[in-house]
Amino acid sequence: MSLHPPLHRRALAGTAATALAVALVAGGALGASAAPDGSGRSTLRALAQSAAGLKIGTAINTDQLGSNTRYDQIAGSQFSTVTPENVMKWDAIEPKRGQFDYTAADELVRFARQHHQLVRGHTLVWYNQLPQWLVDLGPFLTSKQTAAILKQHITEEMTHFKGKIWQWDVVNEAFNEDGTLRDNLWLEKIGPSYIEKAFRWAHEADPKALLFYNDYNIEYAGPKQDGAYALVRGLVRKGVPIDGVGFQTHLDTQYGIPDLETSMQRFANLGLRTAETEVDVRTTLPVTATEQSAQNAGYSESLQACLLVRACISYTVWGFGDAYSWIPGVFAGEGSADLYDANLVAKPQYFALQSVLRTAKGVPHRS
Ligand code: G3I
Repeated sequence: MSLHPPLHRRALAGTAATALAVALVAGGALGASAAPDGSGRSTLRALAQSAAGLKIGTAINTDQLGSNTRYDQIAGSQFSTVTPENVMKWDAIEPKRGQFDYTAADELVRFARQHHQLVRGHTLVWYNQLPQWLVDLGPFLTSKQTAAILKQHITEEMTHFKGKIWQWDVVNEAFNEDGTLRDNLWLEKIGPSYIEKAFRWAHEADPKALLFYNDYNIEYAGPKQDGAYALVRGLVRKGVPIDGVGFQTHLDTQYGIPDLETSMQRFANLGLRTAETEVDVRTTLPVTATEQSAQNAGYSESLQACLLVRACISYTVWGFGDAYSWIPGVFAGEGSADLYDANLVAKPQYFALQSVLRTAKGVPHRS
């Protein structure tokens, strides 16, 4: 997968803490509840709630959940929403045709309920992590058969979780960097209307869930964002039931920080919610002082942007511990992208988010 952004990026240096200069002032304690880790610090979720009614989330690695006490304790206390990193994807849910396995996903939903958390469902329509039976069958399917399989998948999975999911990533990563639609099974067999159809089927299955289009690199102005914008605007104008756009926000210190406030506001102006759905900030290893401060800025500025855009209802990091991050497996020589180190000790990135939330004042409150 390519998560390399286009070239016209703001340089990283000197951008930190400009966006919120007006809206944020130094503030004191917010009366938020303390983390159960003996530190006496308020949790991210309590600070975010108190500052702006904002939900703070994390992707969850269900291999850790229930077997790693410290992991559970951080996941349950610091965050107010959770996203399954892998276990609601099609290959996990229907590994064999017609045989569904909701064990791990149900466990996560239970964990969320116990900890008074909302769930972001991820993801229903994607080109990746499809079960092998579908990959093998794909070339032989007609357009009608493909649409029937996709509808059945959306309906079956959303019905299983009906009433338990706050936001669903209905369609994930449908665009190429040049703003054209990504070639995948759905586009090949059904055509561009697969996106509209997916949102309509999703709405039928769970009318109360917020339905999102989710992608990476749309944080930056450019052809990919323009392509997604044109699509989403078209859906809104046709009355297709789409509620929001997710900006994944997988940042890398070498590419600079996007102007997420402007980007999210552009979509919010269509009457949609927005969310940052998969935030992490990777860098080349080992981390130098310069890279550390660039990472802090990546987290701070992306959170500040969400706070400033009233339509931005949640800020989700893509995992919180470096030991479980997807980054080293995909980007050789890069890592340290998360809020906690390999021993689940909070890093400067975590304190950067704490500081943004503690000093947020006068930002719009989401209801
Ligand atoms: O489940 C199999 C296991 O049976 C097998 O033994 C093992 C051997 O490699 O692989 C396991 O599957 C892995 C899966 O994660 C579950 O752990 C896959 O190899 C691995 O490729 C997969 O990676 C996930 C990746 O999506 C796949 O594209 C990452 O954990 C996950 O963080 C990542 O998440 C995506 C979002 O869904 C969409 N946006 C980008 C983001 C990062 O790539």
